[in-house]
Amino acid sequence: MPYETIIVETRSRVGLITLNRPKALNALNTTVMAEMVAALKIFQEDAGIGAIVVTGSEKAFAAGADIKQMQSMDYIDAFMSDFFGGWEEMTRVRKPIIAAVAGYALGGGCELAMMCDFIIAADNAKFGQPEITLGVMPGMGGSQRLTRFVGKAKAMDMCLTGRMMDAAEAERCGLVSRVVPVGDLMEETLKAAAKIASFSLPAVMMVKDAVNRSYETTLAEGLLYERRMFHSLFAFDDQTEGMTAFVEKRSPNFRHR
Ligand code: CAA
Repeated sequence: MPYETIIVETRSRVGLITLNRPKALNALNTTVMAEMVAALKIFQEDAGIGAIVVTGSEKAFAAGADIKQMQSMDYIDAFMSDFFGGWEEMTRVRKPIIAAVAGYALGGGCELAMMCDFIIAADNAKFGQPEITLGVMPGMGGSQRLTRFVGKAKAMDMCLTGRMMDAAEAERCGLVSRVVPVGDLMEETLKAAAKIASFSLPAVMMVKDAVNRSYETTLAEGLLYERRMFHSLFAFDDQTEGMTAFVEKRSPNFRHR
């Protein structure tokens, strides 16, 4: 399928989506949203894919929602089209998605990265929610997801002042899982994705589901959910294979990949 704003590739069992609007620093317009959601759905349905990576360029992961597209919009346009609502489709993808972030991840760019399951940042990455400087506020989850990831103090600071956070601060406060030199970003991220894709896919999907559940429920309910999911994995032969391989000191050969 030809895409206008993204590049879609596969690397063995990893699906790779690269934002490709270099002249606009990968600003997210409605075409990007539609194409990203379509590509993710194809990877979700492709049995040959076990993990997905979303990335941008060395200068910009994405510098936000497309300001030029929004400039002339009015309330009725935004409300009737449920503007940004389509991005929620990303959170319905059941396979893990890693964001590989270099350069600017601002506004919708930061929010897109936070919709992924974890973020690996290059040492030149800059995160921010600068919507306040445009007379608006975050609209793709910034006020909610950022607060859950980094806490109220940092989220208020970022959303109210519009300041950027560098990669070191983002790692310190838990927004990103690791920081790597910019030249190593894709190699390191693809390596992490390939590792995930080598595991038993049902187990991987249940891990994603269970960790995400912790944001939606009480500790007691979450623990029960986790235990039931854990029990259910004993219904798959991959559990026998994984544990037998450990005992026999060999690599597992998971069937459900
Ligand atoms: N939307 C549309 N175009 C954008 C853009 C955006 N978010 N960000 C950058 N661009 C365009 C610029 O207009 C420019 O295009 P032209 O050459 O046609 O003028 C091109 O990309 C390069 O940008 P700059 O010349 O500004 O590059 P720079 O290196 O000097 O600055 C930057 C980089 C600091 C990221 C700056 O571009 C910037 O501040 N961008 C806007 C960041 C922003 O406010 N993002 C939030 C958007 S609102 C939002 O995301 C709402 C939400 O909650 C989802």
